[in-house]
Amino acid sequence: MKTRITELFGIEHPIVQGGMHFVGLAEMAAAVSNAGGLGIITGLTQRTPDDLGKEIRRCREMTDKPFGVNLTFLPSINPPDYPGYIRAIIDNGVKIVETAGNNPQKYMPDLKAAGVKVIHKCTSVRHSLKAEAVGCDAISVDGFECGGHPGEDDVPNFILLPRAAEELKIPFVASGGVANGKQLAAALALGAEGINMGTRFIATKEAPVHDNVKQAIVDASELDTRLVMRPLRNTERVLNNAAVQRLLEKEKALGPNLKFEDIIHEVGGVYPRIMQDGEMDAGAWSCGMVVGLIHDVPTCKELIEGIVAEAEEIIRGRLARFA
Ligand SMILES: Cc1cc2nc3c(=O)[nH]c(=O)nc-3n(C[C@H](O)[C@H](O)[C@H](O)COP(=O)(O)O)c2cc1C
Repeated sequence: MKTRITELFGIEHPIVQGGMHFVGLAEMAAAVSNAGGLGIITGLTQRTPDDLGKEIRRCREMTDKPFGVNLTFLPSINPPDYPGYIRAIIDNGVKIVETAGNNPQKYMPDLKAAGVKVIHKCTSVRHSLKAEAVGCDAISVDGFECGGHPGEDDVPNFILLPRAAEELKIPFVASGGVANGKQLAAALALGAEGINMGTRFIATKEAPVHDNVKQAIVDASELDTRLVMRPLRNTERVLNNAAVQRLLEKEKALGPNLKFEDIIHEVGGVYPRIMQDGEMDAGAWSCGMVVGLIHDVPTCKELIEGIVAEAEEIIRGRLARFA
């Protein structure tokens, strides 16, 4: 399937694997890229820019296809060494970066000078337009249903995608809530040039996470996610569990007085315990409503080729019948 996104990134299928903390390791990115999608290493999961350089080189040993690096600009008192991470990306020859959080304006001159294509992930039309204005090449339009940080506007993709299509000149992919070929066909109909998936890629054979995480995703329904940290204006969609229940009780009790320190046990440093050790109640972890559509643990190749085949069949068959 050829779209502006496959052309832009030099990939076979218009399917991107979004950056995921402690999931987006070299194994994940290589498996997605080898299957013809765009795999993405999560920059900040690597503790230092040097470690990121090693991870990029490890990925390159596993695939000769294009892959990218995610760089998430988080609100923080002691920000990570972003210039160092940018340098590691450029010096190691990566040509695609997925940015998220704040727009990447500050780093665009360096990235552009190195011939890096930038896809910025954002949750609103106004942020998408800003990213287009600062020179991003594509947008990942992330609807309210997404796993992770949906922003504070709460606009789901059935509205957000056609709104993006009304305004954007650069190509965009539909991010959030996507798991199958019906949705790829729908995303194309709404104006997107492909899809970005997070949660769906965690439940694959190659995802480098504990089997308990994959099983939790297969077991969950679309009713099993919760929004946390809304009072801090840092809303995150997570899978419900004992830690999330505790966190929500604190949010209710403290109301507008809630501070990050109050919930540090539920959200701080929990990812390795969950993703690597499989301690499913260790804390809150990002997960999309799309869990309701995930019923198996395929290989990335089976998943990606299945999605594309299903979308093509729908476009040629079911949709053609209505025209
Ligand atoms: C476990 C997990 C961790 C994530 N970590 C990040 C991250 O570090 N940076 C980022 O930009 N997005 C992160 N995301 C968001 C994904 O890249 C993607 O935008 C999102 O999962 C799309 O929604 P979906 O899960 O419904 O497919 C994460 C998502 C999940 C499920």
